Amino acid sequence: MKTILTGIQPSGELTLGNYFGAVVPAVALQEQGSAYYFLADYHALTTVHEPGTLRDWTFQLAVDLLAAGIDPARATLFRQSDVPEVCELQWVLQNVVNVGFLQMGHSYKDKVAKGVAPSSALLCYPVLMAADILLYDADEVPVGKDQQQHLEFTRQFARSFNHRYGEVFRMPDAIISESAAVVPGLDGGKMSKSVGNTIPLFLEGKALKKRLGKIVTDATPLEEPKDPSDCTIVKLYRLFASEAQVAEMESNYRGGDYGYGHAKVALKEAMDEHLAPLRARRAELMAKPEHVEAVLAEAAERARERAQAVMQRVRRACGLR
Ligand code: ADP
Ligand code: TRP
Repeated sequence: MKTILTGIQPSGELTLGNYFGAVVPAVALQEQGSAYYFLADYHALTTVHEPGTLRDWTFQLAVDLLAAGIDPARATLFRQSDVPEVCELQWVLQNVVNVGFLQMGHSYKDKVAKGVAPSSALLCYPVLMAADILLYDADEVPVGKDQQQHLEFTRQFARSFNHRYGEVFRMPDAIISESAAVVPGLDGGKMSKSVGNTIPLFLEGKALKKRLGKIVTDATPLEEPKDPSDCTIVKLYRLFASEAQVAEMESNYRGGDYGYGHAKVALKEAMDEHLAPLRARRAELMAKPEHVEAVLAEAAERARERAQAVMQRVRRACGLR
């Protein structure tokens, strides 16, 4: 059975972009192999510097992923830092990685340009990510397009290591879902926490209504016909509504006497309906934090067993005891 592995950073509330771009595919993939999903809290240390915040966001991400359908009976959902062997593997791997290579990383350059401190951890972020993947003998790694280079780096590091020490690492493949549509944000551009145009997955009630109110539209008056083809509200509605409902909204747009305010109300209704079971599961999980902790602890034990077996292979190969 193939091993599917991916990590998600606890970097704030899950957005609709994260949900449709990463979580929905992960939920589907847990049926297709042995899935390892982890909360990348070591990686988040590069940008989240307040301990309480890191703890809260990590726990919240676990709750949200479970509420969104990650099933602990199928997938091993664990905290990255519960398996510290990954840092040992990172150290070992660093010996086959040139500094100049890391300095050329897109993600490193982007983050530094955005003002993230250029710590040595930020520079070595891709080596830790390679360690995440190689430590579990992952076959397939579903990631967004922005992570493609990190996967190429991982393969490069594995190749260099294998060249020096023999066939120690399994070569992982990136699964880049081209089909997963980019979810637009409030301003119509790609939804992203770094842009501040997000709709959190678990926003509800008045706060959700207020946020949807901020979706940018053109200034066509209410009574005039509107073009549904390039409207952010319609694009978001499509993610939640049935085909018939979308067709109805499109026809309302073309008919006139239908304002963007009406469309936002319809969008909220479709979200409320689609997300009701997730919200209910989330409320249940929030009421039982010890259950969530137990799920993570049990998964970490399983993950650690596997990691230790691979680490033993690595240590032996490179002459460590
Ligand atoms: P964020 O902008 O929330 O910080 P990240 O860059 O950390 O997002 O991405 C986390 C995961 O969510 C990745 O797998 C990424 O591909 C996916 N993702 C993020 N934003 C979107 C979006 N707008 N549309 C589709 N997928 C997205
Ligand atoms: N760097 C990834 C991101 O920001 C998260 C991540 C960390 C990851 N380790 C990983 C993804 C290993 C896949 C495999 O989205």
